[in-house]
Amino acid sequence: MLIYYPDFICSVQIIIISLHYTNRYNLGNMKYTINLTGNKTSKDGSILGKVHDFKYEMDQHEKEELNNYKKHPHMSACDRTSIIHNRHTNQDVKTIMFGSNSYLGATVFPSAIEKAIEVTRMFGIGSGGVPLLTGTSIYQNMLEKVIAEKTGFDDAIIFSSGYTANLGVISGLIRPNNLVVHDKLNHASLLDATILSGAKMARFKHGNVDDLDRILKANSEQYPQGILVVTDGVFSMDGDIAKLPEILAVVKKYDAILLIDEAHSTGVIGEKGAGTLSHYGITERDKIIVTGTLSKAIGTIGGYITASQNIIDYLRIYARSNMFSTSLPPSVCAGALAVFKEIDQSNIVDKLNENTLYLQQALRVAGFNILNTETPIIPLVVGDATILTYMVKDAFDQGYSVNAIFPPAVPANLTRFRISVMASHTKKDMDGLVELMKDLFNKYGLERYVK
Ligand SMILES: Cc1ncc(COP(=O)(O)O)c(C=O)c1O
Repeated sequence: MLIYYPDFICSVQIIIISLHYTNRYNLGNMKYTINLTGNKTSKDGSILGKVHDFKYEMDQHEKEELNNYKKHPHMSACDRTSIIHNRHTNQDVKTIMFGSNSYLGATVFPSAIEKAIEVTRMFGIGSGGVPLLTGTSIYQNMLEKVIAEKTGFDDAIIFSSGYTANLGVISGLIRPNNLVVHDKLNHASLLDATILSGAKMARFKHGNVDDLDRILKANSEQYPQGILVVTDGVFSMDGDIAKLPEILAVVKKYDAILLIDEAHSTGVIGEKGAGTLSHYGITERDKIIVTGTLSKAIGTIGGYITASQNIIDYLRIYARSNMFSTSLPPSVCAGALAVFKEIDQSNIVDKLNENTLYLQQALRVAGFNILNTETPIIPLVVGDATILTYMVKDAFDQGYSVNAIFPPAVPANLTRFRISVMASHTKKDMDGLVELMKDLFNKYGLERYVK
């Protein structure tokens, strides 16, 4: 349940044993602390020294059954309830899932499963090639059309993941003489893509449009070949929504291009889950490019870029992570198409939003700090990595699966649970989670509102 955070794309989180843990809280005989060790160099400076150092650390965790690097495997779909194999006790346990990105429960939509099975029988389990050779199926074409229509663009390209879509769009369009300006909390894939492009990178303070303006003002003359501004639509760890109207105004002021990563917005916000532009009622599409993923609310796997026809035609050839990578199996595209249909024909997005508001409200009333989330991603700040390590284990032992985010992924004071709401959660599930959080905070003597 450990998630890497974009700021630290080159680091690995290391938990080390410390005998000096403070007794500020009710820690009993706890002796763990989380150290911010990176993986850039090893103790002996050698290439494989890093591997050795990491193994040593892992072994320490494993002894205490607190190894966040090695997961308990799922024995069932990652749905509202999931069966997880506790590898320490060797038992399968039923958990209520508050960690799935399948916010709509689309992973198990019966219509999508049926369609995927039907198409698997017709097409087999793979696509047989890269898109520009033999890998383009009719379902891929149909899916591209549906995504473009839903988001209000001309056309789309399907990738094998959201990560590769982001790699493709930035490395395909951007050259070393461009500048790429990121929100500080953008996803790692967007930063990796920028490194791959060879362009200079700048980052503005999270959600701070004045800071974006400052950076563009200072740089626009130096970059006559163009500036790309990049933001997540919904931020993957904080759950807040990018202020697109203000960002767009600044982007236009400096004649830049805007890229929005809709990984956590598609199927979640906007009209029938159409995303962040729709959420704000923005109809303009000029100089805007959108990427997204099929792996979160759409419940399967794959990513996409959607934009104007000319940009898409260009990127089909110059986005190397598309050109040189095998297409998704047709069954996956067909399953995703069935999910989009179900989203359009049902009120499932409304149901998700109802649950989101219910749980946010309950946690706020109980006094927890859940930052400025507006979406099913609910960060619940614990502020202490050691305590959180124990809390996650306690939650699992009590039948709840919840993700935990540690430093250096987040600043130490914002160490947190990352709760994910699903449309299928019942009030009882959500009330149970709130009670669990109260109990855990009491157990460890933590104030509920951790700043
Ligand atoms: C904001 C954001 N962008 C892109 C991705 C990558 O998507 P995928 O998991 O489909 O590769 C993720 C997923 O972790 C994400 O959170």
